[in-house]
Amino acid sequence: MKNFPAKFLWGTATAAHQVEGGNWNSDCWLLEHATPTAFVEPSGDACDQYHRYGEDIALLAGLGFNSYRFSIEWARVEPEPGEFSAAALEHYRRVLAACHENRIAPMVTLHHFTSPRWIAAQGGWEAARTADRFASYCERVARELGDLIAAACTINELNSVQMLQTSGLIAPDEKIVGSRWRAAAARAAAVAPEEFSAFPFCTRSICRDVMLRAHRLGAQALRSGRGKFPVGMTIAMEEIAAEPGGEALRDAALAAEAPFLEAARGDDFIGVQNYTRQRFGPSGPLPPEPGAELTLMGYEYRPQALAAAIRRAAAAAPRVPIIVTESGIAAADDSRRVAFIDATLAGVLGCIGDGIDVRGYFYWSMLDNYEWLLGYRPTFGLIGVDRATQRRIVKPSAEHLGRIARANAVDAVE
Ligand code: BGC
Repeated sequence: MKNFPAKFLWGTATAAHQVEGGNWNSDCWLLEHATPTAFVEPSGDACDQYHRYGEDIALLAGLGFNSYRFSIEWARVEPEPGEFSAAALEHYRRVLAACHENRIAPMVTLHHFTSPRWIAAQGGWEAARTADRFASYCERVARELGDLIAAACTINELNSVQMLQTSGLIAPDEKIVGSRWRAAAARAAAVAPEEFSAFPFCTRSICRDVMLRAHRLGAQALRSGRGKFPVGMTIAMEEIAAEPGGEALRDAALAAEAPFLEAARGDDFIGVQNYTRQRFGPSGPLPPEPGAELTLMGYEYRPQALAAAIRRAAAAAPRVPIIVTESGIAAADDSRRVAFIDATLAGVLGCIGDGIDVRGYFYWSMLDNYEWLLGYRPTFGLIGVDRATQRRIVKPSAEHLGRIARANAVDAVE
């Protein structure tokens, strides 16, 4: 089978903080600019998409895509508690309208890692009331913009705290709370270190329940507004495997993920996000095998991992459609990106052939953008960005995926 289902969504994904530029009212900006900081460089102007969205959306349409996933920045829409910015909402209305003018279905994410700095300074996602505050922000967005939204993700990778912990990528609670850079950001926000919490560096167990409640309330709020569109969450889902002796740790990683998949059972779709495979050995997570091809993130090159993640999501929530809301590779050599896309799409087609209801594929990312702590070095984009001039440089992989999107099939590609 080479054709994708009718109305398949073909898109690219971005997040506001990573592409818009000047997101100074967010918690991440504080962390980037504190001394010391864990970030190799600040986000600065990013890709200036806050001003260049019109050209960017037209570029996507010209390449053949029919959808674009981007995030609305809470720190702009609600700069202070309860104070909503009509100008920021109007900005996103123009972005959504530009999508429609270009026949691009806009999929919005309401929270993609960053929060307003006032949220972080009041306990962040470790404070129960953040769920209610998130819902009130969602309610306002739906009321003002819902008529133009084609699909919405409440929270991006709300399981990332748990995933980063089981993969051994973030330190346990006490170390984070005591870390010098968290203390520095708290100082900049004029609060005590234990009051400052920025996602996903919050590791107290309460954050899982706050996130899940925020998703539930946020989804309700989004459904209550103007427009009728599917709502879901996105989940970070690496392929999870065990080497001999690593079964217990593998099972622990699966158990940490389970509550999120369970919570997604009542949603309109599950956003599956996958980049690689995580293997476990008897004493912990294992690095890629010696000699394995690595991406610029240091991840194992593993395009088969996406299909494994889709199958796991489908098994946990068999009645819920799946959208691949992120899959991508950081690579300097664009031909590895083309190969990665082809191999991941073969896996997606295999899943569809087996009866799994996959409704879309969003490549991460549209642009070479700000890769959080690692700055601008890892290049995920289908489109490069000249950092001095902001000029967009379309890579062969963008044209390749655009042709697939236009054909809605892989056999039409030379
Ligand atoms: C995140 C993106 C990030 C990408 C690549 C995903 O987990 O949603 O914001 O840039 O991974 O690391």
